[in-house]
Amino acid sequence: MARIVLGVGGGIAAYKVPGVLRALQSAGHQVSVIPTQASLEFVGAAVWNALGGEAVASGVFDAGPGHIELARGADLVVIAPATANLMARLAAGMADDLLSATVLACSAPLLLFPAMHTQMWRAPATQANVATLRSRGVQVHEPGVGRLAGRDSGPGRMVEPDEISRIVLGELDALGAPGGRGEAGSIGEGAEGVGGLGRGVAYSQTAAGALGGRRVVVTAGGTREPIDPVRYLANRSSGRQGIAIAQAALAAGAEVLVIAANVELEAPAGAERVDVETAAELHKATLQAAGGADIVVMAAAVADFTPASPSEAKIPRGGREDLTLRLVATPDILGDLLARRAEGQLVVGFAAETGPTEADSLARGKAKARAKGADLTVVNDVSAGRGFGQPDNAVWILDRDGQQVAACAGSKRQVADAIVQALSARLPARERGESEQQNLHL
Ligand SMILES: Cc1cc2nc3c(=O)[nH]c(=O)nc-3n(C[C@H](O)[C@H](O)[C@H](O)COP(=O)(O)O)c2cc1C
Repeated sequence: MARIVLGVGGGIAAYKVPGVLRALQSAGHQVSVIPTQASLEFVGAAVWNALGGEAVASGVFDAGPGHIELARGADLVVIAPATANLMARLAAGMADDLLSATVLACSAPLLLFPAMHTQMWRAPATQANVATLRSRGVQVHEPGVGRLAGRDSGPGRMVEPDEISRIVLGELDALGAPGGRGEAGSIGEGAEGVGGLGRGVAYSQTAAGALGGRRVVVTAGGTREPIDPVRYLANRSSGRQGIAIAQAALAAGAEVLVIAANVELEAPAGAERVDVETAAELHKATLQAAGGADIVVMAAAVADFTPASPSEAKIPRGGREDLTLRLVATPDILGDLLARRAEGQLVVGFAAETGPTEADSLARGKAKARAKGADLTVVNDVSAGRGFGQPDNAVWILDRDGQQVAACAGSKRQVADAIVQALSARLPARERGESEQQNLHL
């Protein structure tokens, strides 16, 4: 049984949080609920008391366990919804109510699930606070995109309660906390053959700080190769998987640069972003950024061929019945990265395969992993519309010999966590130990 502090902020999404409390209790954990004064306007103390949340008080002087006692006993602190106001107070180190005082006094990992109107989320002050918190190893989970309270929609929805519970339980696993479901790294390490082709296995979230102090470059999206000023050759990649990897790396404490090839999604707060369009631009930006990176993750789908001589003017139909485009090979970004990488740098390649069977996709992925020699190769079967543009993904993670080291099927964020976990296991052990220690504190 782990001891969890569940902080509840004063946002409308507070009404969903009793579901998180119930799920964590059902998993056998002891949960102390600390609602802010404002949150009691949305969900009253009677609800938390009735559900058996243990320390229902809001003020530092209220009766019940004090902030030091709560902080000392906690294995994990979760705040949902994390309001703009609460994140500002946490970033500033304030301790003016029981929740903020407990957080300040606590060295356990802190997971925040923000929820607010899109304008509040995008406000420079909020983004700066999120970046500050992340730089201290706090896991700030990106809010979802969708309908908000009222008629507006956009980024700002709180992650759904069942997903929050899953993330929290995964984090407890990764920490090896009492009552967790297993040890860190239990995402099917070497488990070839488990669950069909080995992807139906549980994942666990990477511990906060696992990539502390590391610089990670993630490419995301799909390149566009111009045919003329209005047309291009493209692919179906949305950039979701790359953005999810950036989120997972940030949550694990890394400094992150996203090189986005035609990605409409926002990069997570706290990540730098560089936009590119073509394979040649991606090649240049990636090699440039790789110079100072500890890890490069090549999640972008890159065109293998580009029109040899794109027309400067729109190509008219002009009564033609057909048109031949001559294509030439694009630069081999992964190959060039591997050829020039600094000692100790980890490079992750991706291989999107199209069967005809999953076994064929995996076999081709293995051959590619061996031929290219990236530290990790993430293989997915994208036949029948799978993977591209979808919220979910199913991957095998292979080492440079084509051996399966992990496998994951789930949301793109879960897949991202599996990749980050496999990467953190490959960082030199001594350095990993140091960065974990540094990031146990806020
Ligand atoms: C109806 C209503 C809904 C609100 N929803 C949110 C919200 O979703 N997110 C947010 O950051 N603030 C929201 N606020 C503003 C917060 O309640 C306010 O900033 C409060 O001071 C937060 O206190 P706390 O951070 O201590 O919980 C809302 C306010 C009202 C009146």
